[in-house]
Amino acid sequence: MTKIAVVGTGYVGAVVATSLASIGHQVVGVEIDRARLESLQAGIVPFHEPGLSELVTAQLEKASLSFTDSYETAIGGADVAFLCVGTPPSPDGSPDTTYVENAARSISEWITSPMVVVTKSTVPIGSGRWLNDLIADDRASVVSNPEFLREGTALNDFLHPDRVVLGSNDPGAIATMVEVYRPILEQTFTGGRPDLRPGLVRTNLETAEIVKYAANAFLAMKISFINEVAMIADAVGADVTEVATAIGMDQRIGSSFLGAGIGWGGSCFGKDLAALRATAHRHGVESLITGAVVAVNDHQIDFVAEKVSKHIDLAGAEIALLGLAFKPGTDDLRDAPSLKLARHLLDSGATVTAYDPVVGAVSGMDDLKVAPSWRDAVAGADATVVITEWDEFLSINLAALAESMDGALFVDARNAFDAAAATDAGLSYVGVGRAAPTS
Ligand code: UGA
Repeated sequence: MTKIAVVGTGYVGAVVATSLASIGHQVVGVEIDRARLESLQAGIVPFHEPGLSELVTAQLEKASLSFTDSYETAIGGADVAFLCVGTPPSPDGSPDTTYVENAARSISEWITSPMVVVTKSTVPIGSGRWLNDLIADDRASVVSNPEFLREGTALNDFLHPDRVVLGSNDPGAIATMVEVYRPILEQTFTGGRPDLRPGLVRTNLETAEIVKYAANAFLAMKISFINEVAMIADAVGADVTEVATAIGMDQRIGSSFLGAGIGWGGSCFGKDLAALRATAHRHGVESLITGAVVAVNDHQIDFVAEKVSKHIDLAGAEIALLGLAFKPGTDDLRDAPSLKLARHLLDSGATVTAYDPVVGAVSGMDDLKVAPSWRDAVAGADATVVITEWDEFLSINLAALAESMDGALFVDARNAFDAAAATDAGLSYVGVGRAAPTS
């Protein structure tokens, strides 16, 4: 058992703290936002993440997890401190590290014994070095341990990762972290299942820091790549979903993250691509690929909007959007393609009514109506556009949906539906890069 402090209990911090407590460590989460602190102390997670509330409650009851706003309580005597505070983007795309700096200063104020300080926040490449200097205490060593969890499957991703990356210039600090991760590395809580054991990468600080950016940039690149192929597939009458299946069978390519659609959103890909680009620029390196990945993604909104405007006049049209969250399993609207498409359609004179199983309201977009059910959203619509592939939508009776719409246009912007079934239900089906059976 290791005594661990987790500084910042936002999305990543809450998952990290709770998961570490669940594998046998003694964890204290530090949160200075009073509302969030009180909520977590009561076992209430202030965002949507499947299974997390239950696990927080269980660990609070076992007293392996607690939350405080006192650095003194959390840092004094801790063996390891994870920095999980936010790094919002600055105007030039590089992450703002003010919260990381403040947390590091507080740690240096309250440190009482040897401690490993771990960067979990996605910090700019080179941060580990200045953090060592900033903390300026021989008892502290910095380790970069990038996080790869996805919203919606965060607990599973933390407890059963593909790899654990530990970067430090102090071998002793890495050894401490290997002990922290031992239950995960050996999957002791699953009976040691060899198929679930992650890889372990021990490396230096800068390498670990760049791994995070390179991983996210590569995943976003796969999606933008297949979206560009989708555009070509549409033009030549091919089906991109079959192209993705076929190329994905090549183990050098791999089948995941080849889902063409309206493009990627969320708080990570855009921010990390911008940060990698900014780092490259600062070092005089021209990052051609990251620019192209973003440009394709931006264009994907117009590409989907054109699928509607090709069939109906947007001015005065009633359009239903199914899904607002940037992906299923989350209530997150950051960088959500739904809002960009809604803006485009609204600015073109359409009336837009959205429905999402989890997102009940959208602040700052008064002209976007949010309906309480998919039935209310599609009633009288000239076109329905599916933006988020929630399970609830996949079980919709398409004949009933077609019946309650005024028009028949059904744009499946996630290629989540069976085109023939939609056509049989009386809908005019349009996918992304899929040869339409009706055309
Ligand atoms: C992403 C990475 O997948 C995580 O490994 C990483 O830890 C995380 O960022 C982070 O940096 O914190 P996340 O943003 O939660 O995780 O979501 P993803 O599941 O990666 O999806 C991102 C976007 O890509 C979504 O809008 C999704 O709809 C879209 N997507 C995904 C596609 O358009 N096609 C696909 O084939 C897959």
